Amino acid sequence: MFYPFEMEQYLESLLGERDTLLREIEEQALKETIPIVTPMVGNFLNLLVHMSKAKRILEIGTAIGYSTIWLAHGAKETGGHVTTIDMNKDRLARAKENINRAGLSEQVTAIEGDARKVLKTLDSEFDFVFVDAAKGEYLEYLNLIYPLIEQRGLLVVDNVLFRGWVVPGSAFAPKYDRMVGGLRRFLEDLSLNPDFSTSVLPFGDGVSVSRRIGK
Ligand SMILES: C[S@@+](CC[C@H](N)C(=O)[O-])C[C@H]1O[C@@H](n2cnc3c(N)ncnc32)[C@H](O)[C@@H]1O
Repeated sequence: MFYPFEMEQYLESLLGERDTLLREIEEQALKETIPIVTPMVGNFLNLLVHMSKAKRILEIGTAIGYSTIWLAHGAKETGGHVTTIDMNKDRLARAKENINRAGLSEQVTAIEGDARKVLKTLDSEFDFVFVDAAKGEYLEYLNLIYPLIEQRGLLVVDNVLFRGWVVPGSAFAPKYDRMVGGLRRFLEDLSLNPDFSTSVLPFGDGVSVSRRIGK
């Protein structure tokens, strides 16, 4: 988080009550240090699905299903479906359980595997893609995702400012050099791509929203 914690708390309080299951998953994730999107980002994803009337939604990085549930609630309204990928077998099993408890199993297909391999096997196009997996692999995902996003489709990516360190001149430990460098290259690549119109939003951990404007 690169803005005051009080601001995050205040903005979160404006979201109103979340259902018990979402709160339970937030607590589990905090306890087990499983990184999940903030409630504000979850709510934003849900809003974007509604606004774009997305029907074919792809998520890379399921973890225990928190963001998937926000997306799938949106998909239930739009008559859409979420395909979500994670390489961690145990997390994916817990995600399926949580999605089932949310009554959203019909809206979600969960695929176990490395996204860099799975993406090559997908033959359908998507009108909404959410990326939230290994930050060092974002450039690789991007190249595999480009051909899968349909005209006017949305690409939403989490953690693009990673604690604000992606902003040049920021101080961080040398062990993060590669990841921060990769995220900078990713943002440059995405922003300069003439087929996409992109805005980077400095909330949560930094979220980019891009719309495909050309093929
Ligand atoms: C930040 S967590 C996802 C959190 C989730 N989107 C949420 O907000 O509830 C990242 C997940 O990506 C998965 N992951 C990392 N690299 C991956 C890869 N190459 N292919 C598939 N999953 C990957 C990890 O197993 C982890 O569960």
